[in-house]
Amino acid sequence: MGKDVIVACDFAGREQVFEFLDKFTDTKPFVKIGMELFYAEGPQIVRDIKARGHKIFLDLKLHDIPNTVTKAMRVLSNLDVDMTNLHAAGTTAMMEGALKGLTREDGSRPMLIAVTQLTSTDQESMERDILIREPIDKVVMHYAQTAKNAGLDGIVCSPLESGKVHEACGKDFVTVTPGVRFAENDSGDQKRVMTPAEAKRIGSDYIVVGRPITAAADPVAAYERCVREFVD
Ligand code: C5P
Repeated sequence: MGKDVIVACDFAGREQVFEFLDKFTDTKPFVKIGMELFYAEGPQIVRDIKARGHKIFLDLKLHDIPNTVTKAMRVLSNLDVDMTNLHAAGTTAMMEGALKGLTREDGSRPMLIAVTQLTSTDQESMERDILIREPIDKVVMHYAQTAKNAGLDGIVCSPLESGKVHEACGKDFVTVTPGVRFAENDSGDQKRVMTPAEAKRIGSDYIVVGRPITAAADPVAAYERCVREFVD
């Protein structure tokens, strides 16, 4: 499994994202396109970034009935994204439907990653609002196992959880981890953070890095530093 740094391109529109990507002349980072940019610009933004030679993680976190997710995933697969995701809470039938929709005629498909519990959900809100009364760590690991059993490639989790997920689901089950900061950075609104080197040590397969790169004075240098610390 190739380790890589995925740059979260959390920009409002195409001008901003291309102004940012234009700075990368020698390397073509793996980029994450989220809901804001996708809903603002539509699928053409995916084609345009892909045409520049970037791999794409399309982070739309699908969650609907299996039939709808199968058909939506077929559309995303035809966009030729490299990785996409859904909520494991949609259950096994939805995850299997997603894989069916993603699989192309030649058998290839984008990687499919599950979101377990969002980091904005805590024990209290989970018990109160969705009546899940098990400890949240156990819920996350159960969702990871369910995603693996459904045939998914991995989950999004905190770098702190990567080791445990690999122990439970095997080393080939991919962990994609946001919440990465350079040692000297302000962690901002991220509460539990790790440096790229720590994420590597603990076994993350992909790190998703936004503001430490996008808001850096020299984004290319910040990206290259991430790659040096995490991949090399
Ligand atoms: O700017 P920053 O490095 O915090 O960006 C992290 C990216 O990862 C953002 O796109 C954010 O939405 C995403 N993410 C996260 N925490 C999660 C899931 C996704 O920060 N639990």
